[in-house]
Formats: sequence, structure tokens, C-alpha cells
Amino acid sequence: MKIGIYLAAGIAALSVAACTPKTTGPPETNPALETIFSRTSIRTYQDRSVEPQKIELLLRAAMSAPSGKDQRPWEFVVVNERPILDSLAAALPYAKMLAQAPCAVIVCGSPARSSYWYLDCSAAAENVLLAAHSLGLGGVWTAAYPYAERMEAVRSNLALPEGILPLCVIPIGYPAAVGEPKRKFDAGRIHYNGW
Ligand SMILES: Cc1cc2nc3c(=O)[nH]c(=O)nc-3n(C[C@H](O)[C@H](O)[C@H](O)COP(=O)(O)O)c2cc1C
Repeated sequence: MKIGIYLAAGIAALSVAACTPKTTGPPETNPALETIFSRTSIRTYQDRSVEPQKIELLLRAAMSAPSGKDQRPWEFVVVNERPILDSLAAALPYAKMLAQAPCAVIVCGSPARSSYWYLDCSAAAENVLLAAHSLGLGGVWTAAYPYAERMEAVRSNLALPEGILPLCVIPIGYPAAVGEPKRKFDAGRIHYNGW
């Protein structure tokens, strides 16, 4: 009987701990919110390579994303060889910054594994951008999907296997300048208890 009470008390304490905010206080003292609010797309980079440990953290962040039915239909290609970055820059009309970036993470997915693939991979891509910003890096989502030509350019440059589609190419590097986040909050877009 006593053991049961202790067990219940333990589980209750754990549940409370799990629900307790990691940080209290105003947003500027909450590192997660601070990262979200200050992130902005970074398209110019210092001539400096990115440490492999930081790239691994970006990928760990990516794979921490939620996914439909927990299928995790993502795959990631890390590119840090100049000829491949240049070749991608030449082939992708809206990703010319790859020619300056020291590396890129290409977020890919498998439609066969999940019909939610591009939603799950979008969550992973946003985690890459947020993690990069939190580590003093900068990046920008450049679209491959749903453009057939851009997807083919990425596929051929990276030798992607059949059935693996590229969602986006994220050039990553140390920012050449501090990015000013856009003010996007719009109370008019919020509707309580219905429209
Ligand atoms: C689905 C998607 C596609 C995007 N494609 C490109 C792109 O091809 N090239 C680019 O420079 N930026 C691209 N962006 C970045 C947006 O332009 C950028 O997020 C937007 O202007 C808002 O700016 P912010 O990220 O600094 O808040 C894309 C972003 C998303 C979410």
C-alpha cells in the first residue's frame, strides 16, 4: 500500500516537472523564445568554415522535429565541398548565396515512407534554421520542392536515389552581418474560439 502511494507521488512529481516551463520570466530571458524571435534569413557569410560538431547539432535538432505517425521520413545531405556548392549555386536560381556559403544542409524526404513527408521535413528544416541561429550561425531556406527543375538539379548534383525528394537547400555559415528580424506579429490574424 505504502509503495503504491510513494509510486503515485513520484509519478505526480515527474508529471509536474515535465510540465514546468524550462525558463520563466520575460521572453528576452527565455533562450528558446529569444532564438525564435530573433531568427532571420541569412544570405551572406564570413569566409570561415563551420565546425563539424555544430553541423551535428543542426542535424540532431532536425531529427528532433515532430513527424506524422512518428514516421521520420527525412534524410539529410551535408555539402561542404566547394565544387558541389558552386554547382548547386549555378543550377538553382534563388540559391546563389551557396557560392559564398561554406556548407549546406539539404533536407530530403521519402513520399513512400509518409504522405506527410514535406510537412515533417519542413518541421525539421525550421529546426535546422533555429539551431543554426542559436549557435551563432545563419542560414536560409531555399526551395527545391515543389519545383521540378530545381528538384532535378539537386537530385543530379547530389546523386539522390530514386524515391528521395529534396525539399530545400539550406546554405549555412557564420553571418557576414547581423540580421534584423522582420516584425511579423499581427494580432489581426488571430481568432479566438472560431473566426
Ligand atoms: C518554403 C520557403 C521557400 C523559400 N525559398 C527561398 C528561396 O528559394 N531563396 C531565398 O533566398 N529565400 C527563400 N526563402 C526564405 C524567405 O524568403 C524568408 O523566410 C522570408 O522572406 C521571411 O524572412 P525571414 O526568414 O528573414 O523571416 C524561402 C522560405 C520558405 C519558407
